[in-house]
Amino acid sequence: MTESPTTTTTSSSSSSSSSSSSSSSSSSSSSSSSSTTKPSNGTARPRGKNGLKLETEGWLQAAPPPHKHAQNHGLNGEINENGSLYRQPFVESFEKTPMWVAVLTYMGYAILTVFGHLRDFLRSWKIEKCNTTAEREEQKDFVPLYQEFENFYTWNVYTRVRDILNRPICSVPGATMDLLERTSHDYNWTFEYTGRIVHNVINLGSYNYLGFAENTGPCAEAAARITTKYGVGVASTRQEMGNLDRHEELEKLVSRFLGVEAAMTFGMGFATNSMNIPALTGKGCLILSDELNHTSLVLGARLSRSVIRVFKHNNMQSLEKLLREAIVYGQPRTHRPWKKILILVEGIYSMEGSIVRLPEVIALKKRYKAYLYLDEAHSIGALGPRGGGVVEYFGLDPADVDVLMGTFTKSFGAAGGYIAGKKEMIDYMRSHSHSAVYATSMSPPVVEQVITSMKSIMGEDGTTIGRDRVKQLAENTTYFRNRLNEMGFIIYGNSDSPVVPLMLYMVAKIGAFGREMLRRNIGVVGVGFPATPIIESRARFCISAQHTRDMLDKALSAINEVGDLLSLKYSRRRVRPSVVCSGDHHSLEGIDN
Ligand SMILES: Cc1ncc(COP(=O)(O)O)c(C=O)c1O
Repeated sequence: MTESPTTTTTSSSSSSSSSSSSSSSSSSSSSSSSSTTKPSNGTARPRGKNGLKLETEGWLQAAPPPHKHAQNHGLNGEINENGSLYRQPFVESFEKTPMWVAVLTYMGYAILTVFGHLRDFLRSWKIEKCNTTAEREEQKDFVPLYQEFENFYTWNVYTRVRDILNRPICSVPGATMDLLERTSHDYNWTFEYTGRIVHNVINLGSYNYLGFAENTGPCAEAAARITTKYGVGVASTRQEMGNLDRHEELEKLVSRFLGVEAAMTFGMGFATNSMNIPALTGKGCLILSDELNHTSLVLGARLSRSVIRVFKHNNMQSLEKLLREAIVYGQPRTHRPWKKILILVEGIYSMEGSIVRLPEVIALKKRYKAYLYLDEAHSIGALGPRGGGVVEYFGLDPADVDVLMGTFTKSFGAAGGYIAGKKEMIDYMRSHSHSAVYATSMSPPVVEQVITSMKSIMGEDGTTIGRDRVKQLAENTTYFRNRLNEMGFIIYGNSDSPVVPLMLYMVAKIGAFGREMLRRNIGVVGVGFPATPIIESRARFCISAQHTRDMLDKALSAINEVGDLLSLKYSRRRVRPSVVCSGDHHSLEGIDN
């Protein structure tokens, strides 16, 4: 069972230079009444994987508990202090999995496993007639593509919920979308289309945070205009004939948006990580990677041939321990100093909804003279008062992050990614990155979509559309998260994160939740093992600025109904709306059940 601190609220009073020498740590918790609440000492939740308890020793000195309202909204200037690491409360909630839920979840897997083996056995005796999960005769002599457990899991678990996954949509992935109806006659092994379309499904699954993935408006018009001039294909790499004036303009714009010297863009976000990390580090280098980093970062780290060490998710003690060991012991066997130490983190973690503890990571990387690579795929555009991402959210200097990486697939409604930072580094990457040298450059309408949406966020289009959307996203996020908390669901992540994981735990509930929600015209994404720990299946909502209050209310009412139907309200720290309700914000108070 995962042992997790519940809600952590951190506000540090130590400066980055002095913080490193401070060993005392204490912090406040937003729900003092809850018996499961633990002090946050800069400690994110320890993951269930190894079940290790974290040391309580920390280097972050915490401020006194901030005002209750501030804890819930994550915004309060009152507690700002000179030189503090955090300028606002850092509110994260990872409520402990209730024991009975963990037991039932394991029992569910045990039953699936027993029945799976039983059916395999009956199948081999030709008693079981459903052969969809059996290896076909002509495949018998091939080396299996997957390990036996993966096959077993896919056949007996994944196929049971497959109908709610990879559904084809046939519209723009806006606040609402249209879905192609499909049906399966062989227990989700294959699907066929009924020819009907399910219209106006409220979309709670796309990464369309600012709503720029749209087929009308300035972005779509600009993309259409440029297509008539430049076409869609580039048919060359940046180093050859594929360097368009629009690419150069985009790169200047990205560097201005981020407040750094230079930037470079790539046609694919995944490749931006996986192809650039090997250009930055190599043999004799050490990569320190958060355990929940995206696969593209993991692949990039592996391809680099550096030594990789993994620290616990967002856990500064774990990171500092690895840094200290790296400095003290150096490389294995030779004990020579590492040529380079690179820390890999993300801005918002897309499965947990957590926000990186960037001020602490920067303080650590400065103390131990490491480099920092920050993947802002989910945070750029979606966090910070001007959509400047996690660096702006914490009010930090972008120059403190050595490599800023982000994608255009989420807040910008386009495709591709960027690397940004010092000019020297970008110039080096232009000739050393596989993604730059060997891959065809970005398609012109995609470039135009990014330029137009980015200018809108920056207010350079002469309107406040972009800024309004950034603000709207923050409001929608707060409203949605607060309402779910009031209903008694266990919601993971940071109070300001538009990625909202709702814990389902039991694998059967992923399918049931998805089906019941779609019956109510709400499209949701269910996630389970191996994307999450085995007993932490969840629904993962992505909030958009384009969601109207009416849409959110409809979705929330459906979630409430389905939550009762499937008994999903596991939280023991249910919050009730306080008497004070100002505008869009519900003030919350923790209550004990
Ligand atoms: C943190 C992170 N980095 C990189 C990527 C890859 O980006 P893209 O989907 O744009 O290729 C993703 C994808 O979701 C991501 O979540």
